[in-house]
Amino acid sequence: MKRLTQYSASIRSWLAGRYDIGAVEAFAEEQAHKPLPTHVGFWHTFGSLSLFLFLNQVVTGILLMIYYRPTVDTAFESVRFIITKAHFGWLIRGLHAWGATLMILCVLCHMLRTYFMGAYKKPREVTWILGVLIFGCTVTFGFTGYLLPWSQLSYWATVVGTEITGVIPFFGGYLKTLLRGGEGITGETLARFYVLHVVVLPWALTAFIAVHLFLMRVQGLATLERVGEEKPIPKGVGIPFFPHHVLKEGIVFCLLVAVLLTLIVGWPIELGEKANPLSTPVGIKPEWYFLPTYQLLKYFPKMIGLLVSLVPPLLLLLWPFLDRSPERHPKKRRVAVAIGITALALAIVFGVLGHISESTRSFRGQKYEFDMYSVPHRVQPGTHP
Ligand code: HEM
Repeated sequence: MKRLTQYSASIRSWLAGRYDIGAVEAFAEEQAHKPLPTHVGFWHTFGSLSLFLFLNQVVTGILLMIYYRPTVDTAFESVRFIITKAHFGWLIRGLHAWGATLMILCVLCHMLRTYFMGAYKKPREVTWILGVLIFGCTVTFGFTGYLLPWSQLSYWATVVGTEITGVIPFFGGYLKTLLRGGEGITGETLARFYVLHVVVLPWALTAFIAVHLFLMRVQGLATLERVGEEKPIPKGVGIPFFPHHVLKEGIVFCLLVAVLLTLIVGWPIELGEKANPLSTPVGIKPEWYFLPTYQLLKYFPKMIGLLVSLVPPLLLLLWPFLDRSPERHPKKRRVAVAIGITALALAIVFGVLGHISESTRSFRGQKYEFDMYSVPHRVQPGTHP
């Protein structure tokens, strides 16, 4: 420890002899000891957890690229090689695949936290809008990444997922062809999704996150005071960022790593069979975060369904300008809180309906077949299925 202190002191004096590091040190010192609002607790750790998971995706993604080959003939085999033969390949792929799911969960929790605490209100509207764009990029990451293993599930989920763009009037057909790189899902689609997944989205997300964090640091975290009545937090009153909040983040970070490793070892994500464009498997479903939209689309004619499914993201984007009340405290924003809870409940209900639709399940010894609208039908014993 003593040696470490000596080394860092020598590095510091080497740098100080060449650069004006005083300003940088003062800035770091100020940021580290910035007092945070007194309501800051564990809910405020989801932003950093999302950041950690994003970094995890970048590092494990780069490692996966060493062996992954994005062509129709090699994609599936290269992933199989990674998980069966490459050193710790199963772990790297597990960290990437489960990391994606946990990242979406953490981003969702962070979004709910900022929504319920009214943190999107003036002057943080742009931080919120960037957040919505970040969320869009995150799920697009999931969508493009799902095709890359070129398995039956990933192939057919992409067939269904890209089909919907064709419904858009006037330029829908063009958009679908642009996305697929032709009429069907082929090697062209795989190449496009790969470029989006490893070049376009990572850079876009990095830029959005950088500005998001910059704004958060410059404006500070929102208090629960009314808009326009926020007072600066005096030193000694708020929670010090270091070590108090950093310690809280450390605890949650360790828990997250434990959950991630448990999921990787206990529930490894199966690769399944290689894509076969000639055989459509039954019960093709998108990833869990698309299930609510997938189910919602079934209850409307295609065009109307598309318009209806565009309403939630648009509302999210414009929300800071639609909610004009100056209150931030959840107890004083009963309508906004009720809207948030209803939206969350609807997403969960549609997600569950999407999950059980087109499947057969047993309940108290009786078999039920759920149709595409998730309406259960009793299966008479001895009949199909
Ligand atoms: C990878 C994704 C994201 C990362 C890494 C990230 C990171 C962060 C961090 C570290 C903070 C400060 C601590 C905290 O409040 O947790 C923060 C604040 C904030 N974030 Fe995010 N965020 C992400 C996505 C989002 C999304 C999807 C939204 C909403 C749509 C959002 C909206 C906000 C807002 C409004 C604040 C200010 C909170 C306040 O002042 O109390 N963020 N973000």
